[in-house]
Amino acid sequence: MLIQSKKELVICGDLKPDDVFFYYTTTGWMMWNFLVSGLTVGCTLVLYDGSPLRDPAYLWNLTDELGITIFGTSAKYIDHLSKVYVPRDKHLLRSLRQIYSTGSPLAPALYDYVYESIHPKVLLGSITGGSDICSLFAGMCTALPVYRGEIQCRMLGMAVESYTPTGTVNEPGEAGELVCTQPFPCMPLGFWPLPGYGEGEAEAAAQARFQQSYFPDGSSVWYHGDHVAVTRSRAGNGGGMIMLGRSDGVLNPGGIRFGSSEIYDVIDTCFSASTASADQTIIECLAVGQPIDMGTDERVLLFVKLLDGHVLSQELESKIKAEIRARRTPRHVPARIVQVSDVPYTLNGKRVEVPIKKIINGAAIASVNPATLRNPECLLEYTELGKALRAEVEKVPQ
Ligand SMILES: *[C@@H]1O[C@H](CO)[C@@H](O)[C@H](O)[C@H]1NC(C)=O
Repeated sequence: MLIQSKKELVICGDLKPDDVFFYYTTTGWMMWNFLVSGLTVGCTLVLYDGSPLRDPAYLWNLTDELGITIFGTSAKYIDHLSKVYVPRDKHLLRSLRQIYSTGSPLAPALYDYVYESIHPKVLLGSITGGSDICSLFAGMCTALPVYRGEIQCRMLGMAVESYTPTGTVNEPGEAGELVCTQPFPCMPLGFWPLPGYGEGEAEAAAQARFQQSYFPDGSSVWYHGDHVAVTRSRAGNGGGMIMLGRSDGVLNPGGIRFGSSEIYDVIDTCFSASTASADQTIIECLAVGQPIDMGTDERVLLFVKLLDGHVLSQELESKIKAEIRARRTPRHVPARIVQVSDVPYTLNGKRVEVPIKKIINGAAIASVNPATLRNPECLLEYTELGKALRAEVEKVPQ
């Protein structure tokens, strides 16, 4: 872990002992470990664990007051901030050198927001990795340019590729599985109990689960479970990376595979509070696939949360479909758009597509650990919706 974090912070991030390194995170997220590694560089650390948007000025006041140079946060925070605040109008932000964003993909429009409304000259490092490796697969590099919507590069020493379903490296720009084809210093050895640390059977079961989770093709290639595209190499970056969501949350209607983020991007662009009228504002949304035709195909369901007191009109539904068709393809258009009172999120602000897909398809709520969700009470609504949605597609045998 120490070698890996030193590589990330010192070589890729160019952090120095005089940096004031800030993170908005809880101590239960790996970004806390990432932050604490700053001590090995000699940085001054600032941790904020709380509600960052009760007054959106707060963290930016803190930046000026403490001379924060590296500002780490979640994509979700930047997304929410972009709807309510322009830090550049109210704060000097002279000390700021880099902004890190993680937790979920950073939409292309938020790159514009960061450069236009926060600071024109920072390095915007969208970074991605995992709690399971407690480090990064792709992220920032101060020696490379930032391209809108792209993670700058694959991290030094990480043999990351986008794989096709048959386990070959994708062409640039093609979506596939995020894999790491070579071992790396902080690669986990297994699930607990590790070999030699447990009872025979429990130990064997843990290791079998570990193999299934990360090495599904039986080789030593690490499958992380993210759906990504590696872009064409530009300016020596060896190809940047675009995150398309969890690979187990990939949509596949009519055999056309795409990431749910392709739908979310359209919703963000056309129906956010800043671009749409109140009756057409979508605050949250979630897209999942539902099996149809006895599981040989699937249809896309899009759940939307509107502002309080608004109902999903025929007009809004048609408009959503029209925008998705125009900006993506007819294949991307959801078969059903359903209004919900809430969309579940993890504590880290990630949408929970896979559990919702399971619940819609009949799994019990007990299959989801409520402690991992910010708002587990909303799951019940999906159980009810699932019954109705399944009734729509289930053919009664003659
Ligand atoms: C931010 O700083 C301004 C100017 O000093 C002050 O008026 C405001 O109350 C501060 N806001 C917060 C949330 O700290």
